[in-house]
Amino acid sequence: MSAVVLKPSFRPGLPEISSEPPATHSVIQALSLQPHIEGGYFVETDRDPLLVPSPFPPIPASSLMPQRPGFNPDHRNASTSIYYYVTPQSPQGNFHRNRGRTVHTLHRGRGVYVLIHADEPDLPAGGKRIESFVVGHDVAKGEKLQWIVEGGKYKASFLLPDDSSAGENASGGLLISETVVPGFEFCDHDFLNAEGLRTLVGAEKADELAWLVRK
Ligand code: GUN
Repeated sequence: MSAVVLKPSFRPGLPEISSEPPATHSVIQALSLQPHIEGGYFVETDRDPLLVPSPFPPIPASSLMPQRPGFNPDHRNASTSIYYYVTPQSPQGNFHRNRGRTVHTLHRGRGVYVLIHADEPDLPAGGKRIESFVVGHDVAKGEKLQWIVEGGKYKASFLLPDDSSAGENASGGLLISETVVPGFEFCDHDFLNAEGLRTLVGAEKADELAWLVRK
């Protein structure tokens, strides 16, 4: 794991849009964001009408959850895009995985991304590789404006204060765009639970990362 500190900087309050700071609240309203099941807020901004054959192994009909009206599991939209916002009141996106590849682009704020490379062989010392990095505007310090997460990797994120001296979050939160290729479907998405985390990374690292698992 890198030197990035994997500890929450913000503790969620009531999961209420109205209890967000005013600057955060206005972004949520202006972009028509909704709470995301991963944590944070989102809105889908684009779904390419071009349909492509699904590149993924078929999912047994018995395990297909209810899908979007008209969804055909043999096809995917070529891409989808969302705004995604982690905020002082909803300050983390919990570990989940998509089968598609996701391109992330930063608009505002700072945060940490944590990846578990579940699609790779175990490390020689055992367990899957864990990667973490800061996303932010200070590119000279190595912060990322753009980052790609390949399909099959678990991903979590959390909000950081805007800079080390500020205890508050002048930018209002971490606002990004995500484009998934091929486009997002719930049947290509899953969450990591506590037991799965332990299996992937071992007990010690699982204890350190447990706060990023959806309860
Ligand atoms: N619906 C629920 N979550 C998502 C997501 O992450 N992306 C898209 N495009 N739609 C969603």
